Amino acid sequence: MTTDKEIRVRLPRMMLSVVLLLSVPAVPAAETGPVGPKLTPKLKRLLTEEMRAVNQASQQIVGALVAGDHAAVAKAAQQIHDSFILEKKLTDKDKRDLEAAVPPAFLALDGAFHQMAAKLAEAARHKEDVDLQTYYFGRMIEMCQTCHSRFASDRFPAFGGKAPAVHAH
Ligand code: HEC
Repeated sequence: MTTDKEIRVRLPRMMLSVVLLLSVPAVPAAETGPVGPKLTPKLKRLLTEEMRAVNQASQQIVGALVAGDHAAVAKAAQQIHDSFILEKKLTDKDKRDLEAAVPPAFLALDGAFHQMAAKLAEAARHKEDVDLQTYYFGRMIEMCQTCHSRFASDRFPAFGGKAPAVHAH
């Protein structure tokens, strides 16, 4: 049963997610292409570490979602949100190096991705229905694919440069 209260809570969140996704800028062709080879060795190492952690946490989320374990979903999603290399561990020089190496669209997509993880964590913390958590999880995985196809086609050539477009629905 969906109560009025649930609808009031859920609708603004859904709308927020639409706004968030629409705010991911359209990407001109020149703004795509592998970023890995352009990173300094330190940034590349941090990105790889983050990706491995994110990958592991995503698998934990699958296990927790199918078990209806809200607390475990929240914990792993929060870890993804907090793993932001772009905010953590970077010196001022690293930040300048990063901005020089990657297009703004990459940073925007990374930001949107971590926001989606935060929304998933929030939904799980409030023990909101599993459908909503699964929805946010799906959007998050879509962003993995979008970013890999646009910015890591060297590492993931199977996408052939194509991925599900970031779209609102
Ligand atoms: C904003 C962009 C972006 C997002 C979002 C993103 N990735 Fe990545 N990911 C990359 C890039 C770039 C690389 C390649 C780095 C390199 O050059 O080695 C990568 C590499 C990886 C790797 C390979 C790491 C290795 O061992 O070399 C894994 C695994 C991975 N990502 C998992 C994920 C998962 C799972 C998600 C979503 C839950 C995700 N990524 C979301 C950009 C992204």
